[in-house]
Amino acid sequence: ILTAKTMEELVALCKRRGFIFQSNEIYGGLQGLYDYGPLGVELKNNLKQAWWRSMVFDRDDVEGLDASILTKPSVLKFSGHEDTFTDPLVDCKECNSRWRADQLKTPNCPSCGSSNLTDPRPFNLMFKTSVGPVEDSDSFAYLRPETAQHIFTNFKNVVDSTSKSLPFGIAQIGKAFRNEITPRNFIFRVREFEQMELEFFVIPGSDEDWHKEWVESRLAWWAEQGVPKDNLELYHVPSDELAHYSKATVDIMYKFPHGLEELEGIANRTDFDLGSHSKNQDELDINSSVMENKESNSRLAIQDQETKKWTVPYVIEPSAGVDRGVLAVLNEAYKVEDLGEGKSRTVLALRPHLSPIKAAVIPLKKNHEGLVGIASDIKKNLQKLRLGRILLENTGNIGKSYRRHDEIGTPLCITVDFETLEDDSVTIRDRDTMEQNRIKISDLPKYLENLIVK
Ligand code: GAP
Repeated sequence: ILTAKTMEELVALCKRRGFIFQSNEIYGGLQGLYDYGPLGVELKNNLKQAWWRSMVFDRDDVEGLDASILTKPSVLKFSGHEDTFTDPLVDCKECNSRWRADQLKTPNCPSCGSSNLTDPRPFNLMFKTSVGPVEDSDSFAYLRPETAQHIFTNFKNVVDSTSKSLPFGIAQIGKAFRNEITPRNFIFRVREFEQMELEFFVIPGSDEDWHKEWVESRLAWWAEQGVPKDNLELYHVPSDELAHYSKATVDIMYKFPHGLEELEGIANRTDFDLGSHSKNQDELDINSSVMENKESNSRLAIQDQETKKWTVPYVIEPSAGVDRGVLAVLNEAYKVEDLGEGKSRTVLALRPHLSPIKAAVIPLKKNHEGLVGIASDIKKNLQKLRLGRILLENTGNIGKSYRRHDEIGTPLCITVDFETLEDDSVTIRDRDTMEQNRIKISDLPKYLENLIVK
């Protein structure tokens, strides 16, 4: 490996090859927003699918949900976000720049160096909008700051419609919005991002064991995505740093190009959220400091059929950022390899299930009717396997195609040449070893399936 990767290298690759672009770029951009391009959308979807498969399909105790982004203020009042979802903001009185007080490394303004800063004041990170044609105090709504809250507000709907009993979970993937004071480090801290969240409801008392189990399970999942345990660190959040709903939180920290930072948080949210959103709270045995609620029309609890006793479950919440996941996976996969004699190649050694393109089919000669016809049939047949995108690459430049597909992480290139016309076989080239082998066209589906569904 020739070079250490830097954020600049990753940003450049993402732009050059069409993974990630600055949003609103042609109008000068809008800070803290990014768009996923043709390859980025595939990589991001593949990561989300891998999460969904492991959380929902591979288990029988988790159900899925896709709830609204616009959120009634009452939800975020009783979740505690209206009061506490803030970061400490300071202004520089000299140059008018704004900073997060807890991220300043010195008492001076990072922009102009002045020590003339305001005292920190709480700044609420939630975005507001208005719903309906009249914009007044009754029409305002929030863009959700986490996907979790509508999992809690739908708790009874899911229990009633699926007859789930404890322990069980509800999983959701979707956008969240935070008006970050200082978005930075590419897609690491942005104002519009995606989360993959599981709320796993458990019997109070079993919460601490489940918390440990979920931490282990999430570490194993990241390893399957190509982010090995050795490159992750667990941070047991000290009590004075815990979110208002949390009894204990373990952050999975990853060494991003800009430093060791949170990739995923796994919190023990106790009965705080379900309890806070429930009516008739005095009838419930709620342990933590829930918000007093006279507006909810629902009891978010489970009743034992025999004893008739109501239990407000505790919640263990593994919450991962999709965008931070994409950044970690790209960072792990990116390599510049020394090929000797002054030559090198850039490879994105993504796990094949995450690769934006699963295989490229390349006719040796551009627009050659016979070769392109066979390549096109191969593409169609492999595409039918539904393993992901298969690309027909009619460029006629094999060397250039191999380089491009190494750089975007395509695990397999399939070359159709003049021998193919005689013997129905093709050359396959492995991205990681660069080995080339001959294989019958009829054996390609099995070969590709083995490679992708490992
Ligand atoms: N529901 C719990 C929750 O939202 P969080 O630690 O604030 O907890 C969970 O967020 C995850 O969401 C983080 O670990 C991170 O991966 C991602 N995330 C949070 N804020 C983000 C931001 N501004 N930009 C990108 N990802 C973010």
